[in-house]
Amino acid sequence: MIGVILGTRPEIIKMSPVIRECERRGIDYFILHTGQHYSYEMDRLFFEQLELPEPDYSLDVGSGTHAGQTAKIMTGVEDVLVKESPDVVLVQGDTNTVMAGALAASKLHMKVGHVEAGLRSFNRWMPEEINRVLTDHISDYLFAPTESARANLLHEGVAEQKICVTGNTVVDAVYQNLGIAQKKSNVLKELDLEPQAYFLVTAHRQENVDNRTRLKEILKGLEGVQREFSLPVVFPVHPRTEKRIKELGIGVDGLNLTKPLGFLEFLHLESQAKLVLTDSGGVQEETCVLGVPCATMRYDTERPETLDVGSNVLVGADSRKILEAVRSIETWKSGWKNPYGDGIAGKMIVMVCAAARPQ
Ligand code: UD1
Ligand code: UDP
Repeated sequence: MIGVILGTRPEIIKMSPVIRECERRGIDYFILHTGQHYSYEMDRLFFEQLELPEPDYSLDVGSGTHAGQTAKIMTGVEDVLVKESPDVVLVQGDTNTVMAGALAASKLHMKVGHVEAGLRSFNRWMPEEINRVLTDHISDYLFAPTESARANLLHEGVAEQKICVTGNTVVDAVYQNLGIAQKKSNVLKELDLEPQAYFLVTAHRQENVDNRTRLKEILKGLEGVQREFSLPVVFPVHPRTEKRIKELGIGVDGLNLTKPLGFLEFLHLESQAKLVLTDSGGVQEETCVLGVPCATMRYDTERPETLDVGSNVLVGADSRKILEAVRSIETWKSGWKNPYGDGIAGKMIVMVCAAARPQ
């Protein structure tokens, strides 16, 4: 039996190909939702749009400090794992759900599979970097998306036989949903947008939005883009960011702010955008897969493949660099090769896990 642990928006999206494959193969599995994300548009909406089965267990841990949230997830996960005794526990990505789930499982001597293993920003200021490193070092199956992720793991002394390069399940999710998104979503019409004639934005990194100076600088850059190009700047606002904008009393001028969007709407918007500005991990990958230019409002990235192929540039939390990236867009070379695999990562991961089960 496979235990699938998830808890946030990107985990639901990137685990969906794994869950679909378990369903397709009739594999015995269960879904444990930690409840790290719980607002309808950060959670349920994705189960509905991706037609995923209901979680078998919901811990409802909600928000909290890092230690508080991690502790709640660990105790809740432990109870479920003791009851279910899965052969393999799968976690995906770099959130507190991932690290806490992997740690609880590994202390119970259960096999842990880390989907999207080996990513490194080499910036320990990011809570996600700590989660990545710790999870990788207590996992038994490291599903690295690329060769460079594999190299990071080898460099840290992870045994070669534990690593399997699968591609990233985000490619599976994009391929499985882009056609549906273009058919089903009316988001361009609803937001009164023309293809290639708007910018799309997301921002939610703790180190960006919890810092008043950085958040103000990012918003200044985005407002500058809107003024200079006279094109809509569409910004579905993450709940963390919404909260910070309110708390810090920052005014936002000229941007098309929306609530967080469903995956189908967001994917559709991404695929038709002139350029995407983001600090999200998944969005850097998706734009690369979709052939859409991306400017990442960070000083480093654990997705260096996107820089190497030329789909992405780092602009920091710097209004001047944000504007420069947008000004240079016409000179960007398009037609880069997607470095994240051919959309069969979910199949490969389930195949490896199924082979790990006792016969
Ligand atoms: C978390 C992950 C981050 C990931 C992101 C995906 C960690 C350390 N962070 O960040 O790596 O990129 O999810 O989106 O695990 N909130 C709501 N509704 C929700 C969820 C959150 O209103 O459904 C608000 C709460 O005020 C909460 C804040 O957002 O305090 C932050 O939520 P949290 O899960 O702690 O971190 P994220 O910023 O969402
Ligand atoms: N996404 C979405 N709606 C939005 C913004 C993002 O469905 O309004 C999707 C996006 O397509 C990607 C994922 O959310 O698949 C990225 O999640 P997020 O940026 O929250 O987390 P990260 O990838 O940085 O961990």
